[in-house]
Parts: sequence; C-alpha cells; structure tokens
Amino acid sequence: ALAPHYADRLLAWFDVSGRHDLPWQHPRTPYRVWLSEIMLQQTQVRVVIPYFERFVAALPDLPALAEASQDEVMALWSGLGYYARARNLHAAAKRCVELHGGDLPRDLDALVALPGIGRSTAGAILSQAWGDPFPILDGNVKRVLSRVFGVEGWPGLPANEKRLWSIAESLLPDARLADYTQAQMDFGATLCTRHDPACVLCPLQDDCIARREGRTDELPTPKPG
Ligand code: ADE
Ligand code: SF4
Repeated sequence: ALAPHYADRLLAWFDVSGRHDLPWQHPRTPYRVWLSEIMLQQTQVRVVIPYFERFVAALPDLPALAEASQDEVMALWSGLGYYARARNLHAAAKRCVELHGGDLPRDLDALVALPGIGRSTAGAILSQAWGDPFPILDGNVKRVLSRVFGVEGWPGLPANEKRLWSIAESLLPDARLADYTQAQMDFGATLCTRHDPACVLCPLQDDCIARREGRTDELPTPKPG
C-alpha cells in the first residue's frame, strides 16, 4: 500500500528540503557523479565539496584522470583519507579508457566490475548520471527502510540485506530517478537520522512502523554480540 506513495512523498519533501546546489549536480555528468560518490563513500558532504571542486578543476574528465600521474591523483586526494579510494579511482579510469572508450559504462555489472564500485555506488551512478531505475542501499537507506517497513535483524546479515535490496527495488519511481537517489541521501542524512529522527516533520510518519510502534531507537537492529 505504501509503495506507490513512498517515492512521491520523498520527492515532494526533497523539492522543499533537499540539497539542490551540490557541485556534482551542476552539471550532473557521469564522471562528476562517479567522483562525488567515491569521495562521499566515507566522507561527509561539507568536507567533500572543496576537494571535489579542486579535483575536477585539475582533472575535468575521465580521460584526463586516466592520463594523470599517480602522484598528481594522490596529491589531489591528500587530506580526504581512505587512500585506496584514490588508487581504485585511478585504476578504474584507466580501465574505462581500455574497455569502454573513455566513458563510464552505462551498465550495472560493468560498473561493479570496476575497482571501488559496489552495487549501491553503481546504482547511485546509473540513477544520477542517466536517470536509470536502479536502487541504492547505503547505511542511510538501510536505516530508513528498516524503520519505515519494520525490518527486523541486523542489516549487515546477508539475508536481511537481501530483503532490504528487494524493498528498495520495489519502491523505485517511474521518473526523476536522479532526484530520488539524492532525496534518499538527504532524507537519511538530515531527517531520519541515527539518533532522534525528526518524525514530526517526516512525510512518511503516518506509514512508518518504527514511529507507530515507538521503536525508532530499536531499528535498525544493531549488530549482534
Ligand atoms: N553520500 C553518498 N552520495 C551522496 C550524495 N549524492 N549526496 C549526499 N550524500 C551522499
Ligand atoms: Fe524516520 Fe521517523 Fe520518518 Fe519513520 S517517521 S521514516 S523513523 S523520520
């Protein structure tokens, strides 16, 4: 019953309260979306923004990244941490030049085959860069879906994660896929937060199982042990 409304409500919330001025949204090219998603995997938006701006100013497209020296790439990444991300990014760019004509592939399996890109990052790239209907399932989305749908069990367990992926898949809208992906990121980061979610402001509050049962502090289920 909730499925047809979920995306509509999230998108209406996003139009009013989401982030619309992030540098990778203007212009929203595959290269810029990819770079931003890798930077955002372990780093907060406000920290990423100046690094992103500096990186794309120096290396504005994928072939430029592929041809850059490792020293230049690492210098542009310096300070962001988790340096395997930069090495993977560079290796992936070279592989895209060899295999995909210097572009990112518009294909889930081909994206996941590149270093540093898991299924959720691939979904974030396909939806934001091309508007293709693929779900994401990062930590924020796991938390929101666990609460709204009352999914019990630690999301790190493969069986539980599989269930969350299938819920995420079932909720995809027919249009505005890029905005829908960004809406989920913003919703999890700013409203349905880990501690003290702002349920009174939430567009899903009437349907949310965790809210109805007063269990927002119990869902998602923590890692056992
Ligand atoms: N985390 C991962 N991707 C993101 C995005 N596009 N916006 C905000 N946070 C994110
Ligand atoms: Fe999250 Fe509260 Fe909204 Fe449920 S009602 S989705 S717990 S903010």
